[in-house]
Amino acid sequence: MKVFEIPGHQVIWGDVTEALETGIEDNSINLIFADPPYNIGKIFNGKKEQWNCDEVYLDWCYQWLELCFRKLTTTGTLYLMSATQYMPYLDIYLQNRLTILSRIVWHYDSSGMQAKKYFGSLYEPILFAVKNPHNYTFNGDEIRVEAKTGAVRKLIDYRKSKPALYCTTKVPGNVWYIPRVRYKMPEYRKHPTQKPEALLERIIKASSNPGDVVLDLFAGTFTTAAVSQRLERKSISIEREYEYVEIGLNRLGINLNEPGLNLD
Ligand SMILES: C[S@@+](CC[C@H](N)C(=O)[O-])C[C@H]1O[C@@H](n2cnc3c(N)ncnc32)[C@H](O)[C@@H]1O
Repeated sequence: MKVFEIPGHQVIWGDVTEALETGIEDNSINLIFADPPYNIGKIFNGKKEQWNCDEVYLDWCYQWLELCFRKLTTTGTLYLMSATQYMPYLDIYLQNRLTILSRIVWHYDSSGMQAKKYFGSLYEPILFAVKNPHNYTFNGDEIRVEAKTGAVRKLIDYRKSKPALYCTTKVPGNVWYIPRVRYKMPEYRKHPTQKPEALLERIIKASSNPGDVVLDLFAGTFTTAAVSQRLERKSISIEREYEYVEIGLNRLGINLNEPGLNLD
């Protein structure tokens, strides 16, 4: 395991369980984003993700999730992604430990191969869970979106003492349409499952404040760290593959070819 220190941001090159056990203080993290391998045969830096069976994959998830509960502050929040087929198990597991406030559907469209004999998947599930449902960060006003009424004319609310226009914005519901990252988009990096900055921006703005610490357990292209830096949050990112760590350091503004660079 190796740790790179950049002001306000820490990059841990290593295994998630080891990093959580030895590299991160208990009760120190405001927001955790967990986007693990989904056990669907993706290839990360030449290595095919593969667990022998569902039970082994789920046990591995439970192991690092258990550590996450310790790392979160008493007002902390966890967002968890996984494949649709594993979500029911992870949902039930989380229900006994945290309070799940939303089951989010990240919906996107696909211009690529389409299923012809079944309904192809165009979404990924995200669980939004908090340690204390009576005391947690949620900045709804920071993430408001247009409230589409379907009406052609502007609607007037007659329930008020003085009729006024209906509010035209709202806190997003639990279905989020956000396009996937495509080759040649400015944010694109070479990685099979890069998440869009817009997705992390909504999560980080809603569930943390400037100066808070955001932990990404499976950093990949370090979308979380890059967005955290832009939004003036601190970040800790864990990633096992050095090629992706290089992408992350670069995204955090580090020029790895700079002579005399010392990140230890
Ligand atoms: C689904 S991707 C995360 C993508 C990331 N959210 C992004 O926006 O780019 C999962 C990542 O976890 C990494 N990974 C797999 N097993 C790991 C482990 N045991 N410890 C740390 N990282 C791991 C993979 O190399 C991969 O980059």
